[in-house]
Amino acid sequence: MDVLVINGPNLNTLGTREPEIYGSTTLADVEAGLVAQGADAGLAVDTFQSNHEGAIIDRLHEARTDGTRFIIINPGAFTHTSVAIRDAFAAVAVPFCEVHISNVHAREEFRRHSFLADLAVGVLAGFGVTGYRMAMDYVIERLGA
Ligand code: DQA
Repeated sequence: MDVLVINGPNLNTLGTREPEIYGSTTLADVEAGLVAQGADAGLAVDTFQSNHEGAIIDRLHEARTDGTRFIIINPGAFTHTSVAIRDAFAAVAVPFCEVHISNVHAREEFRRHSFLADLAVGVLAGFGVTGYRMAMDYVIERLGA
C-alpha cells in the first residue's frame, strides 16, 4: 500500500453534514475517487475514517511498518485540538498533506490554528472535496507514478 487517506471525526457524514459548507459529495464517493485516481497511476490507496482520536493514532502507528509512503489527512476538528495526533505524525515520520474541504481561515478564529500544519508537506483548504484530488495529484507526481 502506497498512499493512506485518513478522515477524522464527522467526515463520515459528508454529503448530509452542513452541505452549504461541505457540499453534497459523500465520503464513500471521495474515497472511491481517490482509490481510482491512485490506481490509474499505479498506486495502491488505502482509506480510513474514524471519529476516535486513539483509533487514528493507532492507524498512524501501523503506517510506520505497512509500507505507506505518503498520507493524505483531513483531521477534522482534531486539527485544532490534537497534540497527540501531532506527536504520532512526528513519531511515524511518513510525509503527509493536510486537507480541509472548507477554507478554515475564513471561518471561526479557532479553526485557524492547526497542530499539524507545520509538520505537513503542504496544506490545502477551501477547494471543497477537489482538495483531496489536488493532494493526490501531488502525491502521484512526488512518488513518480
Ligand atoms: C474541516 C474543517 C474543520 O475545522 C472541521 O472541524 C471539520 C472539517 C474541513 O474539511 O473543512 O470537521 O477539516
